[in-house]
Amino acid sequence: MLETVRWMTAEGNILAGCEDSHQRLPGKLRIIDQTKLPRELVYLEFDTIDPLVAAIRRLAVRGAPAIGCAAALGLAACAQHLEPANFSTGVQQLADQLAASRPTAVNLFWALDRCRQAHNIDELLHTALGILEEDIRRCQAIGAHGKSLMEEGMGILTHCNAGALATGDYGTALAPLYAAHAEGRKFTVYSDETRPLLQGSRLTAWELHRAGIDVVTMCDNMAASQMQAGKIDLVLVGSDRIAANGDVANKIGTYGLAVLARHHDIPFYVAAPTSTIDATLADGSLIPIEQRDPAEVGAAEGVRVYNPAFDVTPHELVTGIITEKGKQHPPYGFG
Ligand code: MRU
Repeated sequence: MLETVRWMTAEGNILAGCEDSHQRLPGKLRIIDQTKLPRELVYLEFDTIDPLVAAIRRLAVRGAPAIGCAAALGLAACAQHLEPANFSTGVQQLADQLAASRPTAVNLFWALDRCRQAHNIDELLHTALGILEEDIRRCQAIGAHGKSLMEEGMGILTHCNAGALATGDYGTALAPLYAAHAEGRKFTVYSDETRPLLQGSRLTAWELHRAGIDVVTMCDNMAASQMQAGKIDLVLVGSDRIAANGDVANKIGTYGLAVLARHHDIPFYVAAPTSTIDATLADGSLIPIEQRDPAEVGAAEGVRVYNPAFDVTPHELVTGIITEKGKQHPPYGFG
């Protein structure tokens, strides 16, 4: 069985795979079931496709980079059961099923496209482990490039979970916070609850609190008054897909925060690895937005529910984008 990859800062991360780059088969993908956090720390293992696709759909593993890593490693775990003669066809079929799990995070398709090139199981596992290791390195680099934004005593607002749980390790939006914290800087993170599935209060607050970072969680509708009260100096979020012009898809509610930040003259930064950039899309209007089960919102029987998982923040509202390559400021031009 493939061992758990690593815990963020001693214990913390989610993702699954191998603890080093030595290839080990037979293997299983092992992940934390994020739907159970913070109440229970439960692991799940996968080497068959249907339960894995279902787990991604129900957000047992979620966050754009983590979905890509889990799909790649999960594909390898499933593909080890293929007959060598049918390997290539079988991998394409498995990858097609995984690609149908969630539509918005481009990291999923980016990772699967790399895996589809493998000719045998050794190559596939090597590629999948490489994707995971690369993601961890990219997140560390995002942390290094972004940490200078974090000044002593600041209030930083984040939305959803773009931390270790959402990546191979460290996170994207949370990586600069971990890096600044490691240098002894003190600040307060305001973690939006993030309706309807509470990734902010359940996951971000959990991860940051365990890492010893001062964190306050609040309902989404409290962000405006916290800004008005002068508590927020910086907004820092992750992304699921960034279009060529710098428009940013992220968890529903992010656009509203960007508008609020502009009104209050607060910098609004996005942190994401370059695997989140989709240079094939000219602008954010082309990003497919996942619509989720109305039952997640909760309404009286018969009432129609609007439940998109993401929104798009226009590039004009984005102060800067932090990738593993550094900080970029407008005008953006990816591609
Ligand atoms: O629906 P989710 O929980 O997968 O949404 C996740 C987000 O919107 C994150 O902010 C984004 O994927 C960046 S994670 C580093």
